[in-house]
Amino acid sequence: METMKPYFEEGGIAIYHADCRDVLPQLGPCELVIGSPPYVDQRVYSGGFPLEKSQWMNWLFGILEASLRKAQSAVFNVGDRRRKGFREWDSSDFAGYAQAYGVRLWERFMWLKYPYLPNGSAEQPDDPVEFCLWFGEPTFRTDQVRRKYAESTLMRYRTTPGLRHLSNGTRKRQSAKTAHEGGSRPTTVLTIAPVTQEEYTDHPAQYPIELPAWFISAATAPGDGVLDPWSGSGTTLVAAKELGRRAIGIEIEEKYCEIAAKRLSQSVLNFEAVNHERSAEQGDDRGGTQQPLLSEQNLS
Ligand SMILES: C[S@@+](CC[C@H](N)C(=O)[O-])C[C@H]1O[C@@H](n2cnc3c(N)ncnc32)[C@H](O)[C@@H]1O
Repeated sequence: METMKPYFEEGGIAIYHADCRDVLPQLGPCELVIGSPPYVDQRVYSGGFPLEKSQWMNWLFGILEASLRKAQSAVFNVGDRRRKGFREWDSSDFAGYAQAYGVRLWERFMWLKYPYLPNGSAEQPDDPVEFCLWFGEPTFRTDQVRRKYAESTLMRYRTTPGLRHLSNGTRKRQSAKTAHEGGSRPTTVLTIAPVTQEEYTDHPAQYPIELPAWFISAATAPGDGVLDPWSGSGTTLVAAKELGRRAIGIEIEEKYCEIAAKRLSQSVLNFEAVNHERSAEQGDDRGGTQQPLLSEQNLS
């Protein structure tokens, strides 16, 4: 087969202008696959993919299976569906398909898009939530995604130990709790603002850099490899670059490859974030190789 050249390649980040189903089987291993698929009939992209729900699910789970042959785990960002004012499907539908395909759904994260966008019909409440479904068996690096405690919650930890009322009417002495110095344990609700004006490109379905960045931080170490099968405007690749990971994006529309390449040329490595994660790793020496994720020998 003819050797396929990347559309863009620089500093360990590459973009392939192709159908992900053709490129995925030819890739080497990586630590994390993350992306948001084209969504049924919501938007029309070139290349074509199934527009009916069960066909689309089979299409998606085929790509998930191919992803999990390359990576430890895969995060797919999906939304619920409303049609003509009624709920047509929700994130639990994906859990059903995962079972049928024998794929393990490790966790379901809710992305709360806050501050809210000024949209939604007048007759129905707006739905500011999307889901990030995490399949496979990730190594979850809690310490890399801890968040600062709110002062109000810390007060509870600081109060002196006292007597706790039990349901049987008696009282029990309770001990003082200690707060983890790195911050609170992450939850399955991620409050992340929608794409800001500064990040915005001409792609119709861009997600904010902070979303893939959270999962990349939680699942990989500096130097590890990340893959986005539907890279669009390159958001995952920008997040990976800023966090010092190697990455590959696959995108079927050339105009989006072009937008992504331009964004990548402008973004820089965030040394502070990488150093923070290296110290959180405490002795994990897997990262930092900075080799391209994919050499031309892999992809032929
Ligand atoms: C929801 S968008 C991803 C947006 C991206 N997360 C971003 O922030 O820009 C889905 C992308 O998948 C691309 N796409 C559709 N079918 C594809 C396929 N078979 N292989 C690769 N890319 C595909 C579309 O052109 C679109 O850019």
